[in-house]
Amino acid sequence: MTAPHLLDLARALLRKNDAGPFTKPGPRQYPHQWNWDSALIALGLSHFDLPRALIEIRSLLSGQWKDGMLPHIVYHDAPSDYFPNPAFWQIENSPNASVFPTSGITQPPLLTTIVRRLHARHSIPNFIGKVYPSLLRWHRWLHTARDADNSRLACIIHPWESGTDDSPRWLEVMESIRLQEVPEFRRGDTLHVPAAERPHQVDYERFICLIDIFRRANYDPTALLARSPFLVQDVLFNSILHRADEDLRALAEEFGQPTGEIDSWMNDLRANFNRQLWDDSHGLYFDYDQRGGASIMINTAATFLPLFGGLASPEQAKRLVEEHLQNPLEYAPNENAHYWLTTTSQSEPAWEARRYWRGPVWIILNWLVIEGLRRYNYTDLADLIQRDSLELLARSGFREYYDPRDGLGCGSIDFSWSAALAFEFQEGV
Ligand code: GLC
Repeated sequence: MTAPHLLDLARALLRKNDAGPFTKPGPRQYPHQWNWDSALIALGLSHFDLPRALIEIRSLLSGQWKDGMLPHIVYHDAPSDYFPNPAFWQIENSPNASVFPTSGITQPPLLTTIVRRLHARHSIPNFIGKVYPSLLRWHRWLHTARDADNSRLACIIHPWESGTDDSPRWLEVMESIRLQEVPEFRRGDTLHVPAAERPHQVDYERFICLIDIFRRANYDPTALLARSPFLVQDVLFNSILHRADEDLRALAEEFGQPTGEIDSWMNDLRANFNRQLWDDSHGLYFDYDQRGGASIMINTAATFLPLFGGLASPEQAKRLVEEHLQNPLEYAPNENAHYWLTTTSQSEPAWEARRYWRGPVWIILNWLVIEGLRRYNYTDLADLIQRDSLELLARSGFREYYDPRDGLGCGSIDFSWSAALAFEFQEGV
């Protein structure tokens, strides 16, 4: 398939998934507005329809909670068979909740980085003036309401907040959650995608149990930090947050806003991130389980995100790339896995080629790692991963994830961010 044709298809897909004020991440599997999906969808849309891209962002921000939290799903009254449905969250019991139907948890804060990129490419000062206060409030909420140990690292309280919902790095913490009273529910995620490509039932029950704990606490941030059995300082989430702080700071400077508060978040986070999450003996970053007081020593592609966040020193970057990313026993293509980049190291016993976040290639992870590699001048490697990403999109269409052995598309069909990122891979900056 020639490249312009690929972009025609990408544009048609984003148009097809356009639901008015927002774009569905996947037409049947994900029929509402998801937080970090929307940021990437806006980036994709900006290549051919900037006004529509800005609507996408404003729609997402319309779901912001009064305390600054930006939810992982904004439902927009669109009827669907998706579970959890808006009623399940019971957000109306929180004094902080949005007046719109939303979920009660957040997602990786990619949005500010995308907003800054749109401004750098298209100069949109009026738009920045409108959204900057909301972005600042979200960052402040992450650095305070989610700071469990005064480190300025944000904790996540649910695997869904990581964006890598079913990653094997959650297995041990999830197993520690006692499954006594699972609220009644009916899964929607296996209606449109084969069960073998989705989370196991027992994991899903734990996802739901966590939500039940949160709704019983009325989403009070202090109670959530105290009670959530899942309380993790995640490498991926905090790398994206640090990068977003950097981009927020650049916008603040350009628009004459104070930068001191952002500087202090960035300085504290950087020092604590490397103290708490870097493991020098393995040359890897690992998440930290705040509740259990231990590192989560599972090797997943999240370990490369500090390159995106600019948090790794050149020496740390060299170890990540040379000892791990380029290692065919872990991430590099080999006789078994032919495509960059498996989302879990193939050396992990939990690695599975076709199950959701347990191993397949995800285009978003490829893009985040490519951006990080370019930041640290590993240009040739970034080009290789970019070439593979384009090949997967051209061969198997815009799917949610791909089997690294044969490039087969898995999960949701017509997946929006896979289409959106085709523009970045093809046209770049
Ligand atoms: C899945 C992914 C999550 C994404 C959502 C909507 O739940 O794990 O990262 O935001 O789908 O696409």
